[in-house]
Amino acid sequence: METNSSAKEKSGFGSKLGFILAAAGSAVGLGNIWRFPYLAAKYGGGIFLLIYLILAVTFGFSLMITEIAIGRRTGKSVIGAYSSINRKFTPLCWLAAFVPVIITPYYCVIGGWVLKYLATFAAGQGAAAGGDGSFFSGFIGNAGQPAVFFLIFLFATAAVVMLGVEKGIERISKFMMPVLVLLTIGIAIYTLTLDGAAEGLKYYLLPNLKGFTGAMLLKTIAAAMGQLFYSMSLAMGIMVTYGSYMRKEDSLEQSVRQIEIFDTGIAILAGLIIVPAVFVFSGGDASALNAGPSLMFITLPNVFDSMAGGQIVGAVFFILVALAAMTSSISLMETVVSIIMEKFRMKRIPACLITVLICLLLGMLSVLGYSSWSNVEIIGMQFLDFFDFISNNIMMPIVALLTCILIGWIVKPKYIEDEVLVSQKSFRARTLLSVMLRFVCPICMIIILLTPFVTDI
Ligand code: PFF
Repeated sequence: METNSSAKEKSGFGSKLGFILAAAGSAVGLGNIWRFPYLAAKYGGGIFLLIYLILAVTFGFSLMITEIAIGRRTGKSVIGAYSSINRKFTPLCWLAAFVPVIITPYYCVIGGWVLKYLATFAAGQGAAAGGDGSFFSGFIGNAGQPAVFFLIFLFATAAVVMLGVEKGIERISKFMMPVLVLLTIGIAIYTLTLDGAAEGLKYYLLPNLKGFTGAMLLKTIAAAMGQLFYSMSLAMGIMVTYGSYMRKEDSLEQSVRQIEIFDTGIAILAGLIIVPAVFVFSGGDASALNAGPSLMFITLPNVFDSMAGGQIVGAVFFILVALAAMTSSISLMETVVSIIMEKFRMKRIPACLITVLICLLLGMLSVLGYSSWSNVEIIGMQFLDFFDFISNNIMMPIVALLTCILIGWIVKPKYIEDEVLVSQKSFRARTLLSVMLRFVCPICMIIILLTPFVTDI
């Protein structure tokens, strides 16, 4: 059976607020600011929002509290945690551990792109950043600059992780997250006051039932579930790791609710920035929102360019995205570092250096995949898209499915309940958790696995 002694020996968060802000910092990332608004716009506006909210408070809540409770109860990294619950689940440990190893490098590459745009807007050259997209393709098409910005982002992330949980991660989250919230609210207020923004607001918030079929509903549910995973940093060991640093006296249920409110709130606010702004720019043409991944790097710079004060708004917006991406990449890297420290009994600094080395190797593949090696493809995808695809569409749903089987059917949800009750008198969501873990979540995971292309990742 697992022990808790390691939890006491190792470092952890010094306060409940520190834990909540760090976990929310992990959850709030590129997924909220760039992915959520375009998915909402694509899948019927208000309908998507409604489905997402229902899933967040049921499905998302259950998976998140499960992961954090596993971490806190075992006091171990993702590798040690699952195998200490049941030895037969050791392969699950390795699979879960592999997800952040794949994601961290390419996430830092995209973080580098964000830094490049931040630098461009801050230098007053934002007008050149949009156009027909040639700025973006020219930038990623030459390995030199993306490699430099990737390295800056990677080293900045590593510097925080090297400082440790309390001195690095907690401290930076306590500073970055309030700034992030203020910036998001500030830009949202600005874009909502633009002429024509009301139309975009209606499109975003009201359910759009025109042409909404049963098949569309299924696709919307699958897309919302996929987004939930991505957004809440689930099934990649992060919440297990952060849970292992959580104090025993802090309420799990309340903390998870607060992290969820943070994550969903920022996603909805990001939509309030992006959807109306793109509407104003495109003269009410909703299809401009369907630019997918290029929305942030091509459409939005054009939107800023067309606004009064767009250079400043653009620079502030990219500061916001950089902060969000940085707190997420810190959590991804910390998960890998915690695994190396535990598995190979290493100290933090050498474990960080090894992680940086892995990130350098895999990250450079993603950088080169869009430039010098653009002719190299894996199952029809460039490296970055391939890493994104196998982690999000295949590995994460499998990790979540196996977690549900382990907790829902083998050790039973009481395992989580007992941990929740360590820090609170009663557990209100007890039945919800049990139904979700045993029935709803496994079925949802199978649906996600069977429809890998539905979510348009
Ligand atoms: N939850 C963060 C985000 O929304 O960006 C971090 C993250 C999750 C990054 C999942 C990457 C990923 F595949």
